[in-house]
Amino acid sequence: MMQKPLKVPSSPLFGSGPCKKHPDWQASELQSAFLGRSHRAPEGVARIQKLVDYTRSVLEIPQNYAIAMIPGSGTGAVETALWNFLGQRPVDIFAWDVFGKLWVTDATEQLPLPQVRTFIADFGQLPDLTQYNSSHDCVFTYNGTSAGVMVPDLHWIPENRDGLTICDATSSAFVIPIKEWNKLDITCFSWQKGFGGEAAHGMIIVSPRALEHLRRHQPAWPIPRLFRLTKAGEVITAIFEAKTINTPSMLCVEDAIKGLEWAYNLGGQEALWQRVQSNFAIIDGWISQNPDLEHFAIAPQSRSRASVCFKLSPSYCKGVDQASLISTIASQLAELGVAYDIKNHFLAPASFRIWCGPTLEAEDLQILTEWMNWALAVHRPS
Ligand SMILES: Cc1ncc(COP(=O)(O)O)c(C=O)c1O
Repeated sequence: MMQKPLKVPSSPLFGSGPCKKHPDWQASELQSAFLGRSHRAPEGVARIQKLVDYTRSVLEIPQNYAIAMIPGSGTGAVETALWNFLGQRPVDIFAWDVFGKLWVTDATEQLPLPQVRTFIADFGQLPDLTQYNSSHDCVFTYNGTSAGVMVPDLHWIPENRDGLTICDATSSAFVIPIKEWNKLDITCFSWQKGFGGEAAHGMIIVSPRALEHLRRHQPAWPIPRLFRLTKAGEVITAIFEAKTINTPSMLCVEDAIKGLEWAYNLGGQEALWQRVQSNFAIIDGWISQNPDLEHFAIAPQSRSRASVCFKLSPSYCKGVDQASLISTIASQLAELGVAYDIKNHFLAPASFRIWCGPTLEAEDLQILTEWMNWALAVHRPS
């Protein structure tokens, strides 16, 4: 019988969202929050502007791109994009994970879009991105969190295009560096993943041509005020000047500022990426060399560096139900306080999912692999 490992990870937080907070985070950091005051007071606006400025510096967002904080976390940001920007042209939607497929539902069942082409791949695969027609608008997810599959690059998006690109970057922002902002027109994410911020609010980053489109295009459908970016044919510029649509949580804003400060002081996107690559190398190497495990992502180049999804091999399961083996192992590691939330999303096929984002420590991931080896041995079907 394999010995139980002696060391436990310094943190059992390996879940893919909300993710572990940045190292050294403490609730006392939030004492500087602007609480019990109006977010529209000059000091409140200044706090939100600080968040916007940090976001721009860390993600290296061009000065002529507009940034707004939106209600409703990542989902609020993506749906703000879909409802405000789509409708003028046909839309190509690429989806391969739980959330990408939810955006397909929005486009095909909720919005009365006349022409939608959907390119949907099974879990573990990318759809054929070369099918993208750049005279159409396009919706895609940078990293499919629950599929463990991400786009390896943005080469398939031409710089000169007629259509707008809407990117759900919820689980790639602050994890996988964005170098080609000229390929992205509307980028959406929340704070809960890359730097382990609170949920509640989302961010939307809008290119100059997408802003211009907002001025010219009136969607043919109603938009709830909560998500509306225009009024009487004019862009509501205040939303992009740190004046939010409705009341935000200034406690969450403060928490996000602290996470962004950490990312900035670390060295920005490149430094975050260094941490991700070290983390990913440990989990990827362990899975690849372990005959009991199989990566979900078939092509190594599109294997997510952020949310690594994998299942048990048929030779390990020996006919025993994969889902129940995964549940047993995940529950035992949680009960032991070694690893929380390593079971994949409930709408994904049965699998494990381990977050390798920049707030995690490589040593903890190494220790986790030892515990996983032990749990795999303990529960191996005979
Ligand atoms: C790819 C992706 N998009 C969007 C979301 C939704 O984010 P939120 O819960 O912040 O709305 C998630 C959540 O896990 C996600 O993984």
